[in-house]
Amino acid sequence: MTPFISSAKVIARLRVVRVVPVIVIDDADDAVPLARALADGGLACAEITFRTPRAAEALRRITAEVPDLFAGAGTVLIPAQAAAARDAGAQFVVAPGFSPAVVDYCQAHGIPVYPGVATPTEVEAVLATGITTMKFFPAEPMGGVAFLKAIAAPYVDVQFIPTGGINAGNIGSYLAFPRVVACGGSWMAPTDWIAAKQFDRIRDESRRAAEAAQGKATAVTV
Ligand code: 3PG
Repeated sequence: MTPFISSAKVIARLRVVRVVPVIVIDDADDAVPLARALADGGLACAEITFRTPRAAEALRRITAEVPDLFAGAGTVLIPAQAAAARDAGAQFVVAPGFSPAVVDYCQAHGIPVYPGVATPTEVEAVLATGITTMKFFPAEPMGGVAFLKAIAAPYVDVQFIPTGGINAGNIGSYLAFPRVVACGGSWMAPTDWIAAKQFDRIRDESRRAAEAAQGKATAVTV
């Protein structure tokens, strides 16, 4: 099991990588080539979502074989998934919403956890747990950067990881808002590209994503 780093260190690292690839992986054999493609493209980070039965095994292989990739678990809906993520070496846990049971479990075990919010009431519920960095999901359907700035205004100490509908064309507008730690997204590694083993394509799109995140490129149509 990988020792956890503090939430402050996770956030510092995410502020450097700026893009968190959101990964849905069906075949654990794809995990390592996928991780290498992301890293080779300049995105040394991934959120492996617990939407498939092979998520924990995929995480285990990535943390064992591509240790430079900063790997967390996503779509963690129940404490058992947080436990599986911890055992597989995940460095952080992300969720689309706020599950008090998941947050309690992660806090009890020292696992950095970033629950999802989309309303002021949800921000306040998460704040009550002591967590000040939250996923903002689903970012674009909720109203994008304008909505995020409005919801962020009253909560001056809260930082966000917007996810949902973000791509190389709009990521710059999110990252320009100082209260955004990083943005999540699946556009550089969609499930069908992974299933088709198009790892060179994923590497190339990751490179464009990394360049867009650093302000070195303009919109790219995928
Ligand atoms: C998530 O789980 O965070 C989202 O499904 C990712 O959103 P995207 O597929 O629109 O990037």
